[in-house]
Amino acid sequence: MTQIIAACESKTNTTPDFPMGWYSVSRSHELAVGEVKRVHAFDRELALYRTRTGKAVLQDAFCPHLGAHLGVEGKVVGESLRCPFHGWRFDTSGKCVEIPYCDEIPDRAQIRMWPVEEKNGEIYIWFHPENSAPKFSLPDLVELGDENWTPPRYAEFEVPAHIQDIAENSCDPVHFQYVHKQMHTPKSTVTVDDDGRILHLNSDMSEAAFPHQLHAAVYQPGLALVRTSYAPEAQMIVYNSSQPIDRNTTLLRWTLTVRREIEDMAGDEVMNGIIEGISQDYPIWANKVHKHKPVFCRGDETLVLFRKWVRQFYVDVREIA
Ligand code: FES
Ligand SMILES: [Fe+2]
Repeated sequence: MTQIIAACESKTNTTPDFPMGWYSVSRSHELAVGEVKRVHAFDRELALYRTRTGKAVLQDAFCPHLGAHLGVEGKVVGESLRCPFHGWRFDTSGKCVEIPYCDEIPDRAQIRMWPVEEKNGEIYIWFHPENSAPKFSLPDLVELGDENWTPPRYAEFEVPAHIQDIAENSCDPVHFQYVHKQMHTPKSTVTVDDDGRILHLNSDMSEAAFPHQLHAAVYQPGLALVRTSYAPEAQMIVYNSSQPIDRNTTLLRWTLTVRREIEDMAGDEVMNGIIEGISQDYPIWANKVHKHKPVFCRGDETLVLFRKWVRQFYVDVREIA
């Protein structure tokens, strides 16, 4: 009798590609006029710069000439970026506009550009595996800059997990009990808007030390807004935007703002609490595999819903089954 042995799972052989969507690659204040940076995202090398008029631009990193990295010692010249190797200059559409030692510019002297949008204090780029134009827009973080809310606090954390697995955590109320040591699994509901786009998690935390209600809106894997309400005027917002670095590494960026009414109660300690919470998730993430076809039980409805919802962000759904 032939014995069938399933392929051994490894950290890489079941990990899906990156879901389409908007991903933060920098805070706005971290990129000054005239500054050039290398960015590692989607397992690719990219070059980010800000032109003299203040426009944030993101492009593939490697020069079509001899392959120098434009994000390393490239130089902003007006509304263009100059290669550090032989001085070829590329405008914000990616076209080569100057070769210092030649009048004739080859047609193929062109660099691929990425759609960029700057809002909510961050620089986002649109990722699509087939380079299609953006299919949906970014949310507005209207509380930023509102005088009833505190100036934002920031935190960053690099996590050794695929971006989808991190997002899945928000639909996983059971892990709050086991990983985050809460007394009970909070009563939670997960719903999706009628058009299928945004996923909502509502948790009733009225049995917590400070009773509250929690609402998370998940716009896509890697983009979520969590609102904690202690009372109508006592609210806190944690906004999370992610940068997939490679299939198993994700940089999380948090922005925290609270209503002035609770300014003295919710500040650094909240941010520290978030970092502590992530530290609890860390050993699970660092050692798990992405489960292509998980075995779910009847109590896992919210996770099943998440898996259905997340399919819309992949072109090839066989990737995530
Ligand atoms: S490699 Fe960029 S100009 Fe030669
Ligand atoms: Fe968690």
